[in-house]
Amino acid sequence: MRPVPRWGSPRRPKERSRCLHSTWATGLGRFVYKLLLLRKLLSVKMIYLVAKAAVGLVLPAKLRDLSRENVLITGGGRGIGRQLAREFAARGARKIVLWGRTEKCLKETTEEIRQMGTECHYFICDVGNREEVYQTAKAVREKVGDITILVNNAAVVHGRSLMDSDDDALLKSQHINTLGQFWTTKAFLPRMLELQNGHIVCLNSVLALSAIPGAIDYCTSKASAFAFMESLTLGLLDCPGVSATTVLPFHTSTEMFQGMRVRFPNLFPPLKPETVARRTVEAVQLNQALLLLPWTMHALVILKSILPQAALEEIHKFSGTYTCMNTFKGRT
Ligand SMILES: NC(=O)c1ccc[n+]([C@@H]2O[C@H](COP(=O)([O-])OP(=O)(O)OC[C@H]3O[C@@H](n4cnc5c(N)ncnc54)[C@H](OP(=O)(O)O)[C@@H]3O)[C@@H](O)[C@H]2O)c1
Repeated sequence: MRPVPRWGSPRRPKERSRCLHSTWATGLGRFVYKLLLLRKLLSVKMIYLVAKAAVGLVLPAKLRDLSRENVLITGGGRGIGRQLAREFAARGARKIVLWGRTEKCLKETTEEIRQMGTECHYFICDVGNREEVYQTAKAVREKVGDITILVNNAAVVHGRSLMDSDDDALLKSQHINTLGQFWTTKAFLPRMLELQNGHIVCLNSVLALSAIPGAIDYCTSKASAFAFMESLTLGLLDCPGVSATTVLPFHTSTEMFQGMRVRFPNLFPPLKPETVARRTVEAVQLNQALLLLPWTMHALVILKSILPQAALEEIHKFSGTYTCMNTFKGRT
């Protein structure tokens, strides 16, 4: 009895193998062709986008008009938040809303912004408390109207090592610095999507990309907030009129990191809160997704991705970032 051919065809073995080879060859050819086409299309688009960005660096770009925007800044009473309120007001924002826990500084900033001729309101709200965020957001909508620019700026730093930190303090940083952004964004984003007009801003930190010892709570919360913004930014790609900006500043001279000391302060001077605020508002007006401050921090990202861990550890020790939190006196 003749054996039943395995491929169900009575072709002779040689013929069958030639046929198989040709099917494989055609399939592979098609795959390679598609890959090349995709690469070509991608690289053309990439070249266009990179060229566009490079031109944008040298030519003055058109800044978005803020005169119809209502801006809400969490932690807007002091530090970078207060400077952001000044900057948004100076650049013509319609209304400014400040959130925070300390009434005294919220009141002072509100008065100052009103004197600049901009409508300003403040609300006491702990962004780490989900229910409080939703209730205050409702009150803002009723009293002020729709928020079209949300700046997630509020944050705290406990500033200790893991074993020296009590559990509640560790939780508090995560609640305020990371989860707080979930709640505020959930409260205001739906209306922005309806209006097809909105911008979510996150004041993050370079410590999200390169952590230091002695601020484990803060670095963890900022790295998590970075991932949150990365995911949110990509998720907004097909939402017309709504986008996001993440700002990653280096050490800035506010009360937050009081007492922190780097080894070469002249080489790496702290940023001024005015500079961070100005560059942040500009990034919103330019619809820039990511802003590292100062620009030299890009070198940090590159070094981190190419150097071996031992070499990175030497840099940390040499630059003093390894011990900079030993003198920290800040407050939460
Ligand atoms: N300073 C730096 O070296 C530096 C560097 C990189 C990035 N950043 C980032 O920049 C942002 C602003 O920092 P900063 O230097 O201006 O700090 P800051 O002077 O300590 O101000 C922090 C602000 O957050 C508010 N805040 C804290 N917890 C809050 C809560 N639970 N609910 C509502 N508001 C709260 C504070 O107001 P109340 O205390 O009144 O609530 C205050 O207005 C932060 O996200 C920080 O991580 C700072």
